[in-house]
Amino acid sequence: MSYNLLKGKKGIIFGALDPNSIAWKTAERVHEEGGEFVLTNAPIAMRMGQINELAEKTGSQIIPADATSEEDLQNLVEKSMEILGGKIDFVLHSIGMSVNVRKGRAYTNQKYDWTQKGTDVSAMSFHKVMQTLYKADAMNEWGSIVALTYMAAQRVFPDYNDMADNKAYLESIARSFGYFFGRDKKVRVNTISQSPTPTTAGQGVKGFDGFIAYAEKMSPLGNATALDCANYTVTLFSDLTKRVTLQNLFNDGGFSNMGVSDAVMEAFVDKP
Ligand SMILES: NC(=O)c1ccc[n+]([C@@H]2O[C@H](COP(=O)([O-])OP(=O)(O)OC[C@H]3O[C@@H](n4cnc5c(N)ncnc54)[C@H](O)[C@@H]3O)[C@@H](O)[C@H]2O)c1
Repeated sequence: MSYNLLKGKKGIIFGALDPNSIAWKTAERVHEEGGEFVLTNAPIAMRMGQINELAEKTGSQIIPADATSEEDLQNLVEKSMEILGGKIDFVLHSIGMSVNVRKGRAYTNQKYDWTQKGTDVSAMSFHKVMQTLYKADAMNEWGSIVALTYMAAQRVFPDYNDMADNKAYLESIARSFGYFFGRDKKVRVNTISQSPTPTTAGQGVKGFDGFIAYAEKMSPLGNATALDCANYTVTLFSDLTKRVTLQNLFNDGGFSNMGVSDAVMEAFVDKP
């Protein structure tokens, strides 16, 4: 269902790789709600991904950008304003990658140049995106910036590996930059902490099937899907959430406040 919540709003959406991507679902929902946007992803992901299909479907243009490159980001912001005909109202940062996770290196056996690469892509890129927008004065007043995160920033999920540290850093950047963006430009900055979701990045984490099933049994409302995340993001881009900022918002069916559920307990109780 569409409520026209984003009519007249213009933005940039990072990270749509394939139809499972949270950013892909978000682009579809933003389009349905009347928003216009530029799609972007790393040049290498464009060659592998299906982003052209999404661009066609949503009437969007694509500008490749490696989110770790300040030069690429400057070009992206400049060109986006040209294409969209003015300043930007919303930005989705939906980017994550750990080389240690990809190559199966345990948290206790990091290869630090890989750790650094993961931090640059998954967390510092968010600072770079915001600094580029801020310096170019590219955001409209009452604009909204959202990044996606996971609860391993607060609690231990051993196989989430160095991504846990990257997410803690990402959430801190949202608060720190959110202060300056709020004070100087009336722009809000939040992170959404999403349930485990079967995407390329999600399924790359060792033991993913176990922890998505566990989270499903722990959460009174069950796991939030990629579409649920897209819907929540639409509300954060809309004018209905104008004074929500510096927050880490859980979209997780209640998981983050649970201790134990009946369904999980059942697995541990001796049956007569
Ligand atoms: N899937 C989950 O279980 C889950 C849960 C909570 C949070 N998240 C977060 O959601 C976000 C989106 O991930 P997803 O699950 O949709 O997976 P995905 O694999 O579809 O998306 C990750 C995206 O990051 C992009 N990316 C990687 N390196 C980049 C770079 N240098 N520059 C620009 N883009 C780059 C990839 O091309 C890809 O499009 C990530 O931040 C992820 O950590 C995912």
